[in-house]
Amino acid sequence: MSGPALRKADSHHLIHLAAAGEGTDLTMLAKSLLANGKMEEASRALQALCEHWRESTLEHAREEEADWYLELMENEDVKPIVLGFRRDHFLMERFVMEMEHKLQEGESLDEVVMYAEGFLKLVQIHSDSEEKFLTQWEEGVW
Ligand SMILES: [Fe+2]
Ligand SMILES: [Fe+2]
Repeated sequence: MSGPALRKADSHHLIHLAAAGEGTDLTMLAKSLLANGKMEEASRALQALCEHWRESTLEHAREEEADWYLELMENEDVKPIVLGFRRDHFLMERFVMEMEHKLQEGESLDEVVMYAEGFLKLVQIHSDSEEKFLTQWEEGVW
């Protein structure tokens, strides 16, 4: 989903909500499996989580940068805000890459879960910032 849906606070919020909901469920599932010593299942849940973030949130970020952000960057007052959003996206991509790398290398699943929980927090802060910005945009603040 892209185009007009990205430019409205309510529809953009729904996009964020759908991705975060499934991401939260998979993170909690992996954490619970790990706590019960089910390492194989926990590893598979974390792999599914990485795929989920790639197909949803990271793809959403790519769409924003290819379209909506470019338009916003034309406004000099808004440009610094958009640069901050792009930095968030860079960190989100890095988090998923780190998780995938740790899973491939068979590193500690506890650490991967820590990254997964950090990613959730990062996405939440980023989504809140975008939605707050969009609300202000609709109010004509910018
Ligand atoms: Fe974004
Ligand atoms: Fe977004």
